[in-house]
Amino acid sequence: MVTVAYRMENEKSNRESFSGTIAIFFAALGSAVGLGNIWKFPYVVGENGGGAFLLVYIICIVFVGIPVMVSEFYIGRKTHKNVMGALRQLSPNPVWKSIGIFGILAGYFIMFFYSCVSGWVYSYVFKAIKGDFVNITADSAGALFGKTVVGPFPPLVWQFIAMTVVSLILIKGVEKGIERVTKTLIPLLFVLIIICGIRALTLPGASEGLKFLFKVDFSKITPGVILSAMGLAFFKLSLGMGTMVTYGSYFTEDTNLITTSAKVAVADTIVSLLAGIAIFPTVFSFGMKPDQGPGLLFMTIPLVFSKLPFGNILLVAFFCLTAIAATTAMISIVEMLIAYFTEEKGLKRSTAVILNAIIILLIGSLATLSADKASILGNVSVFFGRSFFDTFDFISSNILLPVGGLLIAIFVGYFVKKNSVVNELSNNEQLKNRSVITAYRYILMYVTPILLTIVFLSSLNIIKF
Ligand code: TRP
Repeated sequence: MVTVAYRMENEKSNRESFSGTIAIFFAALGSAVGLGNIWKFPYVVGENGGGAFLLVYIICIVFVGIPVMVSEFYIGRKTHKNVMGALRQLSPNPVWKSIGIFGILAGYFIMFFYSCVSGWVYSYVFKAIKGDFVNITADSAGALFGKTVVGPFPPLVWQFIAMTVVSLILIKGVEKGIERVTKTLIPLLFVLIIICGIRALTLPGASEGLKFLFKVDFSKITPGVILSAMGLAFFKLSLGMGTMVTYGSYFTEDTNLITTSAKVAVADTIVSLLAGIAIFPTVFSFGMKPDQGPGLLFMTIPLVFSKLPFGNILLVAFFCLTAIAATTAMISIVEMLIAYFTEEKGLKRSTAVILNAIIILLIGSLATLSADKASILGNVSVFFGRSFFDTFDFISSNILLPVGGLLIAIFVGYFVKKNSVVNELSNNEQLKNRSVITAYRYILMYVTPILLTIVFLSSLNIIKF
């Protein structure tokens, strides 16, 4: 007994942890804020008709996103283990291992295309420094983006560079690195996006863009739109694959898990909205279409800054910060895979990092070579008419993450002892938040799983409204 207790104590203290509440908030936010806000959110809103989609998205965040985030934090901090170890500790039933397996699969699928898009961002930093965007027009911005993604070699090389940066940081040990980077740079990114937004609002015809973003037209809401909103909510908040379980395992005992979740969700949504406010007015002002797809960010932001004094410097800063946001998000995804390989499979940390980087680059190159219609593999249909790039995105965001989230909600809602949840979320009765916990459990048990199931069934056309 004594030796076991001693060993457990020791194992616990051997794990690194974040240094305090602010650091925890920024680390979680650093995972949530990424290409999802700046790149994906605007183009998915654009493709799905604007304001109506935004409304559905916010409903998904409140009734599904926040409850699932709290649950992931609970699993992580309760056990201080990686996903697989945590699930094993909380329940002997091997069925729940599926959460971890879905999570690992989702992690790979996301990384296959995320590393590709991060590569584009890195290349835009370089292009901005070279001055490629001086005197840019709507047409030349589109052409430049096309050239960047079709490649084939430059985008593959940039993807490789992005993965190398991620791997080097991961080998050095995450917590200190992540902490330092996120705490200083996220506020900076925030400021820059606000500047972008203000500039975009002063463009002629900007109000059209705002109308698009905020005007709700209920006729645009279809089961497919709702599934996309749900998928985006999971992707945005880094939920459904165990990232937040892993981060929760590094949390200290005095963290308030519920308020941290709510704050992360609100801050993340604000960053997404600000990106939307920077991008849509620009789209309409330059007579572009909002449903451009993945190129939207890359075609609009250079135009926002084009005629400003110091515009090029701001542009370099913008893409630098976006690259950093993308990198911290990737770190959180790959860290989940690394925690699994080192703690469950006994691999050395550096071996695990290199192995995963190779897998991601090999399969991820298929995403890079199919990102545009004009790419080498652009017309290869993999999954219901989707290219490799779109398939990786669709299967991870719209299937694996929501299914993972559903399982997490059911697991914590129905299969974990109520007392364990209440104790952990109240920090062993230190916090007087009983009613909030009750509300959380109610939503988690009755609203989250039902909403998720309806969204799935209706998007598969099994039920119709
Ligand atoms: N949330 C990040 C973004 O918006 C991406 C991300 C990081 C993620 N970790 C994740 C998505 C875990 C799903 C699961 O860019």
